[in-house]
Amino acid sequence: MHPHLACFNPACRARFDINQVIYNCPNCGGLLEAQYDFRGAEPAAWKKTWRERRMDNSPLSQSGVWRYRELFPFLEDTMQVTTLREGNTPILNAPLAAQYGGLTRIAFKHQGFNPTGSFKDNGMTAGAAQARSLGMKRVACVSTGNTSASMAAYASAGGLAPLIFIPHGNISYGKLAQALEYGAKTFQVEANFDQILALVRVLAERLGIYLLNSINPFRIEGQKSIVIEMMDQRNWHVPDWIVLPGGNLGNVSAFGKGLREMKQVGLIDKLPRLAVVQAEGSSPFYEYMTEGVGKTGFRAQTNPETLATAIKIGDPVSWPKAQFEIETTNGIVERATEQEIADAKAVIGRCGIGCEPASAASLAGIRKLTAAGVIDRDADVVAVLTGNVLKDPDYIFKYHTGQLRAPNDTPINATFGNKPIMAPNDADKLAELIG
Ligand code: F0G
Repeated sequence: MHPHLACFNPACRARFDINQVIYNCPNCGGLLEAQYDFRGAEPAAWKKTWRERRMDNSPLSQSGVWRYRELFPFLEDTMQVTTLREGNTPILNAPLAAQYGGLTRIAFKHQGFNPTGSFKDNGMTAGAAQARSLGMKRVACVSTGNTSASMAAYASAGGLAPLIFIPHGNISYGKLAQALEYGAKTFQVEANFDQILALVRVLAERLGIYLLNSINPFRIEGQKSIVIEMMDQRNWHVPDWIVLPGGNLGNVSAFGKGLREMKQVGLIDKLPRLAVVQAEGSSPFYEYMTEGVGKTGFRAQTNPETLATAIKIGDPVSWPKAQFEIETTNGIVERATEQEIADAKAVIGRCGIGCEPASAASLAGIRKLTAAGVIDRDADVVAVLTGNVLKDPDYIFKYHTGQLRAPNDTPINATFGNKPIMAPNDADKLAELIG
């Protein structure tokens, strides 16, 4: 059986050629996923090969994504790969954050160490490789910022023309600046993320542009490498929980698929529980999973609001996959307020680690889940920090100087604020101030 695309809808499960340019099932509209025949898997040999590749200087082996390509063998020819040495992100211990989160220990898998500063690079190298192997010339995405920064970099590095559509005024300058610097043709559209996505899907088809949004199944394949590398770094010892923020829900879908496949081929012996944390003002998946399943069904939110702009999404495309992965891993969905996210972020900063606002939802959620007794105090927890601290410096400055306000204009308390101190040009006065 060759790699193929399959409809994720259990009532359909139609199969398509892996190289067909489709983003949804042509029969039923369901989400698509890549499927492989893993019957010849050799988990022990693979583990050894993956370790050896770390010592090999070829670009493909140095990539923390392509090193694990046996688990996503959709490319006929790896010559199409553009790598910027993505992945290879550290797992960091943070005692202060553990204490804040109500845990005895915590480990952060920090995806902000990626070439463009977010986890999107793990998926983008895969999506861009598929675009090149299909012979595409132009690629497009709608983005709250990180996807566009990543796509711009991988497209430009690989000789593809990047087209970016972003909600006007709603992405951080750090991310917009990256898209411009990496040479993307950038459209700021007067609409929200969900509305723009609908627009771009029509345009992609009409103009023959390849879509690299998270609906693209190959990006999900690349993002599986985040949990594969995590398990490799932990010597294949599975944690009790993996906690991550949720927006469009592509990442949790990728984690779940990667974990299931690792278990299927015998790389790991059990599944960790997955916890997704959303921002309270943008939490349609939380609402669905806590109240809607079997009752109201999934309901999109028309006016999502959060300062964590990366996860300001009211109509997450991947919710059916995310639901399946949460249910399969006996996981949970939590949500956190603007204040909770801001404070958790400052605590992660004080650990000397730092992250962007959306990433801090992980720790904010953990704090609530330990308080509620859902996560044990002594549990082995890996929280994923999805983006780099420098993605949104404006937010940081406002928080520490007490100027941050929630979208509904309530002030955010600078609980862990750290204001810069105005100082005169005078050694004695400065000595006094230093104390
Ligand atoms: N954290 C960060 C920093 C993100 O940029 C995103 C998504 C998420 C978490 C949520 O991940 O969508 O897979 O559930 N950013 C997208 C973007 C939507 O366009 O950059 P998800």
